This record gives sequence, C-alpha cells and structure tokens, in this order.
Amino acid sequence: MNNQKIIAPSILSADFSNLSQQIRSVEIGGAGWIHCDVMDGKFVPNLTFGPVIIQAVRKTTKLPIDVHLMIKNPDDLLEKFVQSGADWITVHQEEVVHLNRTITKIHELGAKAGVAINPSTPVSTLTEIVNIADMILVMSVNPGFGGQKFIDNSFKKIKELVSLRKNSSSNFLIEVDGGVGIENIKDLANAGCDVFVIGNSIYGKDNITAATVELKNLIA
Ligand code: DX5
Ligand code: ZN
Repeated sequence: MNNQKIIAPSILSADFSNLSQQIRSVEIGGAGWIHCDVMDGKFVPNLTFGPVIIQAVRKTTKLPIDVHLMIKNPDDLLEKFVQSGADWITVHQEEVVHLNRTITKIHELGAKAGVAINPSTPVSTLTEIVNIADMILVMSVNPGFGGQKFIDNSFKKIKELVSLRKNSSSNFLIEVDGGVGIENIKDLANAGCDVFVIGNSIYGKDNITAATVELKNLIA
C-alpha cells in the first residue's frame, strides 16, 4: 500500500507567460507531480490546452506529468497525450462508455490510468474497475475552473474509496482535486487521500515555492 503523500500543483492557475519558471518554483517547493487540466469547452464549460503544452511541460521537468482529461471522447487522444509525455492519464467516468477498454488502452500505451468522478457521481459506479485502475480522482469542485470552493461531501466519497480499496484488495491511489488548501489538506490526508491537486492555493499566492512547502509540510 502506498504511504507517500504527493502534492500535484495544477498549472491551470499558473502564469502561462512564464510556465517553465512556474514549474521550477513548485519543484523547488517539493511538488511530486505536475497536474495538467485539459479541457475542450464541451465536457466542461472551459477551454484550456492540448498535447503541445504537455510537450512543453515534459521539456521543463522530470516530475511525473498527471494529465486530467476533461474532454469528450478521450479515447481519440490517448496516444497523442502519451506521446507528448503524459505519465498518468485520467479520464472521466461520466464520459467513457467502455471504461475497462479505455483503462486497458492507457496501460498498453505505457501510462498509468486514472478515473475521475464528478461531485454528483457516486463511488459505486467504479466497483467494476477499481481492480485495474491505478488511481481514482475525486473531483471536489464541479470541473472547469480553478479557485472554486471545496465541496464537503467529497470526504464521504474519499472514505468510501478507502473501504472499497481495502475490500477489493486493490491498490489504486486516491487523488483529490479542487478547492484544496491549508484549511483542509490535513483532514484530506487523514481521510486517506494520497495525491493532492492544488491550483489556486499555490499559484494564487505571492510566493509559489513557500506555498508549496507549507502545504507539503502539512501532510508530511
Ligand atoms: C478543475 C481542475 C482542477 C483545478 C484545481 O476543473 O480539474 O485541477 O485546476 O484548482 P484549485 O486548486 O484552484 O481548485
Ligand atoms: Zn484537475
């Protein structure tokens, strides 16, 4: 079972005119992964970036790149994102009809597979894939934007996932994404989260490195 706790800064809230320096700043602060929010303006009401930015991030850091696909028909772009340097690819349960096949495809491409559930999607929709998924992402905000308020019933879902992991003798990581900060990260770690996606509580601060260090120390 994994005991490591990972800070995954989301570059959605970063200064894109200075992306390599923004990534360097969180690396110095002890970030474990870099979280990249891919949005197509259809699955979510916002449009961000595609594989070309993953290529740029890949050139900038050796940290694992955690790609969160908030797009329709993610199967069409899996290969492009892996070729661009993605180490983790997370698709949304709500968007993928053949989830077992998609997870298998991500593994065949050589990446780790995550499955994300929106605030309104129950953990029970995942029971048939937890034994093959490498990570379950609990959206603790409605996807599409950084800087939103944490949705409290995410704690219930995290606890459900911890017992599901135990009862199914799976070893998927639990990732939480949205509204995570100094006020809730300790409780989230105690509830069983392994990976903490943080955008605004890092990139919205004056000192990005210090914000990363502070959050990392809270879950050390
Ligand atoms: C929202 C994204 C999140 C977001 C987190 O749809 O999936 O990764 O960037 O940002 P904060 O930490 O600002 O809520
Ligand atoms: Zn995300």
